[in-house]
Amino acid sequence: MKMDQPRPGGGDPEESRLHVAVIMDGNGRWAKNRGWPRLVGHRKGAERARELVEACPRLGIRYLTIYAFSTENWSRTTEEVLGLMSLFGRYIKREASRIKKEGVRMRFIGDRDPLDPKLQALFEWIETETAHNDRVHLTVAINYGGRDEIRRATQSVVRAVQAGTLDPDAITDRTLSAHMDTAGLPDPDLVVRTSGETRVSNYLLWQAAYAEYIFTPVLWPDFTPDIMAGFIETYRQRERRFGAAPA
Ligand code: IPE
Ligand code: IPE
Ligand code: MG
Repeated sequence: MKMDQPRPGGGDPEESRLHVAVIMDGNGRWAKNRGWPRLVGHRKGAERARELVEACPRLGIRYLTIYAFSTENWSRTTEEVLGLMSLFGRYIKREASRIKKEGVRMRFIGDRDPLDPKLQALFEWIETETAHNDRVHLTVAINYGGRDEIRRATQSVVRAVQAGTLDPDAITDRTLSAHMDTAGLPDPDLVVRTSGETRVSNYLLWQAAYAEYIFTPVLWPDFTPDIMAGFIETYRQRERRFGAAPA
């Protein structure tokens, strides 16, 4: 990025356009360390997510995209899957008024079709209720997988070509971005993963092509806005070259 271009995370935090994506990992281990059921870790994790959303304006995070349930997480026990699904519904209902008051626009990415219709209805309700908010854009990935998203986007592109509304020769990166679940959102600048795992686990494969990554051993239920503030500082000190030679 050239020096005269504004950096996504620089200047007045309220003016920042920084997009941070988080792989909230380690809830199960956090609970296990205490001899508690995994779901207790997930409940704690949901509290940490709420605190982070609240802290976004002062951290300069305009877009926060959190990974809550992957397309691979169906392989967990029925008890854990159902527990997580009911946690998502409770979170939306409990947080709705706070989210609206704080100017948060909430969206969901991932394939909704296999989810309980009641949960799908809650997603649509809160998305509509907050559609005009612009202070913080909170996107929650549920039944999300990067490959699955690319597969669904491909189907949608092919359908447009078949319908004669899209010329294959006119397809650009932007066309594909517009067919992803994240259409309308900027690409993430920074991806943070907790719990010490150093993999992307199918998260934002298309969108994070040029993101910076930070991996931390902290388990998600121990994560705080202060830790995030330090990571944003680290991010700002990195030079993003986008393929250009060093300055
Ligand atoms: C992340 O914590 C939350 C979800 C994947 C839903 P984990 O449940 O993966 O916790 P660990 O990795 O087993 O500790
Ligand atoms: C990634 O964590 C998915 C979420 C945080 C929702 P996982 O715990 O499912 O990932 P793996 O299994 O360690 O790759
Ligand atoms: Mg995990």
